[in-house]
Amino acid sequence: KRFIWLDCDPGHDDATAIMLALHCPNITLLGISTTHGNTDSQSTAINAARCLHAFGAPSGLRVYPGASKPLLLPPRYDAEIHGEDGLGGVEGLPDTNDPALHKWFVDDDSGKPTRALEGMVHHIKATWQGGAGHKVCMISSGPMTNVALFVSIYPDLVDAIEEFVFMGGGVGVGNRSPVAEWNILCDPHAAQIVLNTPTIRASLLDPSYNGDPENPPKAVSNLRHTLSTLLTFFADAYKSTFGFNDGPPLHDAVTILYISQPELFKCTRFRVDVELTGEHTVGETVVDIWHYKPCDLTWGPKGKNCLVAQSVNADGLFKLLLEC
Ligand code: BDR
Ligand code: CA
Repeated sequence: KRFIWLDCDPGHDDATAIMLALHCPNITLLGISTTHGNTDSQSTAINAARCLHAFGAPSGLRVYPGASKPLLLPPRYDAEIHGEDGLGGVEGLPDTNDPALHKWFVDDDSGKPTRALEGMVHHIKATWQGGAGHKVCMISSGPMTNVALFVSIYPDLVDAIEEFVFMGGGVGVGNRSPVAEWNILCDPHAAQIVLNTPTIRASLLDPSYNGDPENPPKAVSNLRHTLSTLLTFFADAYKSTFGFNDGPPLHDAVTILYISQPELFKCTRFRVDVELTGEHTVGETVVDIWHYKPCDLTWGPKGKNCLVAQSVNADGLFKLLLEC
């Protein structure tokens, strides 16, 4: 059993990641924090709660709203891909202003929702118990602002992180600039901080899987109908923006598959840094595939800091999706 924390910006594919995290048999989801990214941070928090509500989440699970903007840059949102509210076109979720969503948040002393860092610290400490309990896998399927703040403010809790898995970047190719992938582009400084955190084992997942448009899952239940509306909107957005005809890429769901079934991936360890100042390349993940940079095999600042997933048994993803 692996214990996970999910930091996300739902987002159509984040919603599929939430569904898998809830129902994957060998995973315990401790909590969800949310960030700016696909849309503003208020909407991503509400969207996470809408997903928990509709996807049969255990009643004790909570959403902790996080960063409303990147560390240095102004925020960017992606209405073209995800709609104005981040989950464009979806059917079967509660409305964004449904009072029933309140129960998925924890009120702090002032009656406001308890925020991401407090939630992370509380649950990670309680699970780790200073070493007597379980380590936690930190998953990021959005810009990494919350995670960068976590490792910066609580370096003593980095030992409690078993693995840090993020959906972001690419090897020489981007999707929201010629070389930058969206999650890294939104907050490159945060990504560089996380990649350079001592002892953190990062796993970078290249967003490259497409489903089978000839055999879409049949909408035989409310949940499947909701997922089908999510993926249809996402597919249409990818078609109109990128000319994709092969169905939507399920970027974020791959993080949960990796935690559940790492044997389905082929990974290689590389030195990875994020370009922060380039005139044309800000947000690029610079993956040292030719081993130019002198570095050792340790994780963190001096070493090959990232296990880069280069291929996946894609049928495994759809099998897990349907099972969940
Ligand atoms: C990433 O950006 C967003 O569109 C998705 O949610 C995913 O996390 C893909 O580049
Ligand atoms: Ca995302």
